[in-house]
Amino acid sequence: MKAEAQALFRRSYGDEPEWVGEAPGRVNLIGEHVDYAGGLVLPCAVDRHIAVAGAVSARWEAHSEGGDGNAYVRAVGQMLGRPAQRTAIAADLPVGSGLSSSAALLVATAAGLDPSLSGEEAALLCQKAETAASGVRVGVMDQFASALGKAGHALLLNCGTLAYEMVAFPDDIALAVLDSGVHRSLAQTPYNRRRAEAEAALAGRNLLEIDEPGDSPRLHHLVSETRRVREFVDCLRAGDKRRLGELISESHRSLRDDFEVSCPELDAVVTAAEDIAGCLGARMMGAGFGGSALALVEAGAAEAFAATIRAPVILCRPANGAFNQ
Ligand code: GLA
Repeated sequence: MKAEAQALFRRSYGDEPEWVGEAPGRVNLIGEHVDYAGGLVLPCAVDRHIAVAGAVSARWEAHSEGGDGNAYVRAVGQMLGRPAQRTAIAADLPVGSGLSSSAALLVATAAGLDPSLSGEEAALLCQKAETAASGVRVGVMDQFASALGKAGHALLLNCGTLAYEMVAFPDDIALAVLDSGVHRSLAQTPYNRRRAEAEAALAGRNLLEIDEPGDSPRLHHLVSETRRVREFVDCLRAGDKRRLGELISESHRSLRDDFEVSCPELDAVVTAAEDIAGCLGARMMGAGFGGSALALVEAGAAEAFAATIRAPVILCRPANGAFNQ
């Protein structure tokens, strides 16, 4: 994608860019709506990318063939103390597809403007930049995955301590990202409200030390999802594919019923996916309220799955993050 961003820069501005950066989107296997609560998450960077090429200019400006990214590029540049830049953005990661295009754009910009950052520094800076650009108090999961993912692996991240480790992801499971057809920006959703509810339910306690959620449905999701992430990692290590799929489906029910971040279109695409041969399990993915669902599918059945499901599908694989090349 870097060459495409450079070419778009030349076409847009008639001269050469001074820098270029690239970063991948992400899927989250499990651990949803827990990052901002200090929970465990298990995302992967995937083989779909955004690249940004840029050069110093009199004002901030971005050219792109899909969507507008100027506010995001500017937020990263300003946090790095850089002067205004004109930029060109190219992607094979559709905007608003649920693959965290905004995190990929932020991390690509950071990688282009300052490749000497560590992946952790870049992730934290990009998280702040996303909140500055959008007003949404996102967690650190998406930026971390885009910066530090590793091909063939998922990244088990403790969002409280930022300790992380790589967990091998099997070649014989395909990641299918299913578009619910409901496209939204997070700023238009109750995301910030859910985060506030989670913080209220935790009341300053460490999520990873809570065993009994009591009768709060929000806390019930946070605690049960934490258990599922732990069990999912055990099942990856043990090669228990059947149980991996069940955990994904349980996560969906918890997000739908206890955390209330699904919507009818997501529920429908999850049910449709689970009815197709070779699907191990499916759930809504990311912030919810629209966007995408993730299905884990036996790799040998993935093409037939994609041809059968009546929703736009992206089949992807775990890839390297921008700072882990
Ligand atoms: C969005 C946010 C993440 C995370 C997920 C839900 O993708 O950017 O930080 O909170 O929603 O798990």
